[in-house]
Amino acid sequence: MAKLVAFYSRADENYFGGSMKYIQIGNTEKAAKMIADMTGADLFKIEQKIPYAADYNTCIAQAKEDKQTGKRPEILNLPQDIDQYDEIYLGYPNYWGTMPMAVYTFLESYDFTGKKIHPFCTHVLEV
Ligand SMILES: Cc1cc2nc3c(=O)[nH]c(=O)nc-3n(C[C@H](O)[C@H](O)[C@H](O)COP(=O)(O)O)c2cc1C
Repeated sequence: MAKLVAFYSRADENYFGGSMKYIQIGNTEKAAKMIADMTGADLFKIEQKIPYAADYNTCIAQAKEDKQTGKRPEILNLPQDIDQYDEIYLGYPNYWGTMPMAVYTFLESYDFTGKKIHPFCTHVLEV
């Protein structure tokens, strides 16, 4: 049976060790591609129909509101089914202590009974 790496990731402006930087490829996407290379899994990027802003401060405000209101943002090109996969690597960035709400949309779109899920999460550790 096949493997899938499903991941959410955002390029654009993000916070790196005390400063803001625009990037072309998000952290989780880099990790997702490494896992796909190592496992031979297919890749699916969980993309919102209406993406969050490129600007970091606007993005965190949008994501916070979506979390507080329990929103389920619509996803682009959501596969009709994922029956062919028995092992799924699920990657996401930590957003406000949990997953981006679009990852909830993804999870609620399928029945994962009997499938093995390997979650992986990227984050910023501030001490
Ligand atoms: C909307 C938003 C909320 C975030 N909330 C947290 C958080 O609660 N804790 C944390 O450690 N990092 C937080 N981060 C940082 C991201 O988890 C981190 O930069 C992650 O690697 C981004 O992944 P990406 O580049 O694949 O999108 C947040 C970033 C954004 C944009």
